[in-house]
Amino acid sequence: MNTGVTRRRLLQSAAVSLLLESAATRAIAETEIQKSKPKATSFTAVVKHRAMIRAYKSDPVPEEKIQRLLAYAMRAPSAGNLQPWEFIVVKTPETRAKLAKAAFDQTSIASAPVIIATCADVQRAGSQYGARGSFYSLVDTAFASLLILLGAVEQGLGACFVGSYNPEEVTKLFALPEHVRPVGLIPIGYPAESPRKPGTPKLPLSKVVHAEKW
Ligand SMILES: Cc1cc2nc3c(=O)[nH]c(=O)nc-3n(C[C@H](O)[C@H](O)[C@H](O)COP(=O)(O)O)c2cc1C
Repeated sequence: MNTGVTRRRLLQSAAVSLLLESAATRAIAETEIQKSKPKATSFTAVVKHRAMIRAYKSDPVPEEKIQRLLAYAMRAPSAGNLQPWEFIVVKTPETRAKLAKAAFDQTSIASAPVIIATCADVQRAGSQYGARGSFYSLVDTAFASLLILLGAVEQGLGACFVGSYNPEEVTKLFALPEHVRPVGLIPIGYPAESPRKPGTPKLPLSKVVHAEKW
């Protein structure tokens, strides 16, 4: 058989088994979302109130809420629906302390009762998209991270996306395989600070929106 065809078949069968496996994961995630009634929190309100919160109460975050955030993340779009994200949930004080050190002692990481580290499996997207897969896996994992941030608002929690950390240290701490890259550290907890009013200043639309061309 010609090697191009063999390679394509191998990729196809890998994609099928991945899809079957991810269908099972998705079923759990979807049940999590369907199980409880949605709160009367409009999309507009969630987007409006989304802001990075960097100080948290020490109260633990109920496991149900953490599972809900993860279920939301699973609903993110991904290139070819390959879902290249992986999540590491950190609660133990020792690991949180080591993570805070790897994130240059950022207090948000140090004080949060729970941290979800979002990681990208570059190989999963790369198997289908080659070199472009690396880019897709980061974009997809960023989308998943955003759903966690938005979900936190809906759940009455505060969260922050932390991208400033030493990637080698985080990789070592989590014993990540070579094909998995850390993307964001998301400290989560009940807010101990109010978001800035009327919100973090943003550039005016007119500065960044272009009609038809730059
Ligand atoms: C890729 C990326 C990396 C970031 N890294 C950090 C970080 O290391 N520490 C931090 O406190 N905030 C971090 N942030 C949050 C930004 O500072 C924040 O989104 C920005 O100031 C706008 O504020 P807002 O999200 O409240 O609207 C990061 C955000 C992004 C998207």
